[in-house]
Amino acid sequence: MRLFITGGAGFIGSNFIRHVLSAHPDWQVVNLDALTYAGNLGNLEDVSSDGRYRFRKGDITRPEDVKACLDPQPDAIVNFAAESHVDRSIEDASSFVRTNVMGTQVLLEAARRHKVDRFLQVSTDEVYGSLGPSGAFREDSPLQPNSPYAASKAGADLLVRSYQETFKLDTVITRCSNNYGPYQFPEKLIPLMLLNALDDKELPVYGDGLYTRDWIHVDDHCRALVQALVKGRSGAVYNIGAEQEEKNIDIVKRILDEVDKPRSLIRFVKDRPGHDRRYAIDARRARTELDWNPQVDFAQGLRQTIDWYRNNPSWVDQVRSGEYQNYYRRMYDQRDQTLSTLE
Ligand code: NAD
Ligand code: TYD
Repeated sequence: MRLFITGGAGFIGSNFIRHVLSAHPDWQVVNLDALTYAGNLGNLEDVSSDGRYRFRKGDITRPEDVKACLDPQPDAIVNFAAESHVDRSIEDASSFVRTNVMGTQVLLEAARRHKVDRFLQVSTDEVYGSLGPSGAFREDSPLQPNSPYAASKAGADLLVRSYQETFKLDTVITRCSNNYGPYQFPEKLIPLMLLNALDDKELPVYGDGLYTRDWIHVDDHCRALVQALVKGRSGAVYNIGAEQEEKNIDIVKRILDEVDKPRSLIRFVKDRPGHDRRYAIDARRARTELDWNPQVDFAQGLRQTIDWYRNNPSWVDQVRSGEYQNYYRRMYDQRDQTLSTLE
C-alpha cells in the first residue's frame, strides 16, 4: 500500500508513520507537511533514512504542493494536517479555517481528480460539542462544535461527506477522543503539565478543573486508523475512544504524584471561553466493524509518557525554545490572576 500522509511531522501523524513502517513492511509513505510551529522533523528522525519513507515540505492549501505528492499515485490519502489547538483558535481562527477547511477541500479535489482509492479524514470528537454528566457521543450525535477549532474540523467533515455523496469519492472519517503519548507538543494538557511539574513550575488548571476528557494512547489511535483504512466501510464515520474518562484535576494530581512533586504547584486560573464540559466516546462501531480494541492501560501509558519526556531532554529543549516561550507568556499571562490554589 502506498500512503500519502499530510501533517505527518506532528504528534499523531509521526506516531502513525512510525507504526505503519514497523507493522507493514511492504507499505510506503509520502509525508507532506508545512512544518508549522507544531511540525517537527525531529519527531521522525528514526525513520528519515528508511527507503520506504519520503518527506516533502509543503502546504495542503496549495494545489501544486499536493499534486507533487500524487506521482506515483497513492492508494490512499490520510489527512492529519491541521491547526489543532483550541486556545490558539480562540486567539485567531483564520489559520484554522484556511488549513482545516480549505486545505481539506484542496486534498479532496486532488483525490477526486486523481482517482485515489480512499480518503481517510482524521477528525475529532470535538465536532459533537459538549456532553452533560452522562451519555457518550455516537456517530449519529448532532454536530454542535463550540470552539473555532471544532467548527473548522466539523466543516472539513462535512466537505468529506459531500465528496462521497456528490463525486462518489471513497471516504472514511474517524473521530477520536483526546490523545496522549510521546512527541505531543507541550501546549496540550498532559505534556504541558508534566513538563511544568518536572521544572517545579505552576500547573495552570482552567476554571474549576472538573472538565472531563476521554483519553486514549496515541498507539491505540494509530492502530484504529490502520483498521479504518483497511476495513472501514466506504462513507462511514467511526468514533475512536478507550473509555478512559478523567477530570482534568485528577490527571494533574496523578502527574504530580508520578513525578513526586507537591500539589501546591497547582493553580486554578481563568477559564477558557466556551470550554466544553465533558467529552465521552461510544466506540462500539469501531470495535465491532473494524475488529479493533484499545490495548494501552491508562496508568501504564501515562507513566510511559512521563518517562519518554524525561528521557528526551533535547527534544523537549528544542520544542520549548523560541515560539513556545512567546506562546506561553501570551497565553498564560492573560490568565495570571490565580483564582485559588488547592487546599
Ligand atoms: P499537531 O498540531 O501535533 O500536528 C499537525 C501537523 O500538521 C503539524 O506537523 C503541522 O506542521 C501540519 N500542518 C499544519 N498546517 C498545515 C498545512 N497547511 N499544510 C501541511 N501541513 C500542515 O496535531 P495532532 O495532535 O498530531 O493532530 C493530528 C490530527 O488529528 C488533526 O487533524 C487533529 O484535528 C486530529 N485529532 C487530534 C487529537 C488530539 O488529541 N491531538 C484528537 C483527535 C483528532
Ligand atoms: P487540551 O489538551 O487543550 O485539549 P482539548 O481542549 O482539545 O480537549 O485540553 C484538555 C483539557 O485540559 C481541557 O479541558 C482544557 C484543560 N487545560 C487546562 O486546564 N490547562 C491548560 O493549561 C491546558 C492546555 C488545558
